[in-house]
Amino acid sequence: MKKGLFITLEGLDGAGKTTQIALIEEKARQLGLDAIVTKEPGGTPVGDAIRMLLLDPCYSEMTVLTEALLYAASRAQLVHDVIRPALQQNKLVICDRFLDSSLAYQAAGGGLDYDFVWQINRQAVDGCLPDLTFVLDLSPEESRARQPARDRMEQKTLAFHRRVREGFLALAEKFPHRVHIIDACRSPEEVFSEIWEYMSRHLAARR
Ligand code: TYD
Repeated sequence: MKKGLFITLEGLDGAGKTTQIALIEEKARQLGLDAIVTKEPGGTPVGDAIRMLLLDPCYSEMTVLTEALLYAASRAQLVHDVIRPALQQNKLVICDRFLDSSLAYQAAGGGLDYDFVWQINRQAVDGCLPDLTFVLDLSPEESRARQPARDRMEQKTLAFHRRVREGFLALAEKFPHRVHIIDACRSPEEVFSEIWEYMSRHLAARR
């Protein structure tokens, strides 16, 4: 690879991001690609501390503006400490959630202004945008059935998660070359094979 490749996985909780990330990482290693996996919120000591604040159900009073700023803060640290250095070393970076989650959860779901969320995140990522994003799509009902609500975000209403899903679908329309919707209601192998089709095309185009 001539320069690093930045891949992100998005979607409602329980969509199977962890399984797909493991499959992508395994395949990349088989092909001799230098891959690193990271996640949001978190991925750095500062980010892990922010993650605890964000997800602890005891902070039920947290406003959506506070949420958006904390997610962006965790992201800024992750880009600075992990993502940008890895891309500079020509690595494949696979990130479990990134700025599209803020656009879907805090803007579409939480009602913050889209442009505001975009602007704070533009500052946070400082030009480090994903090359490819896969949204593992499933209904909020299926999401809840697969993963019962444990943390503060998962405890939000079904109506909130419906708006989040619509937010992700709208992002694919807005960024058709970067964001791909993948039907997550299939076997992990089928989901992976579709993801890998996009990835191999992208890798071939970069050679
Ligand atoms: P995640 O780490 O995927 O949850 P878990 O590891 O518990 O399965 O994400 C935590 C929650 O944070 C998830 O419900 C989505 C939410 N989130 C946002 O609301 N905005 C964001 O910008 C990000 C990155 C996550």
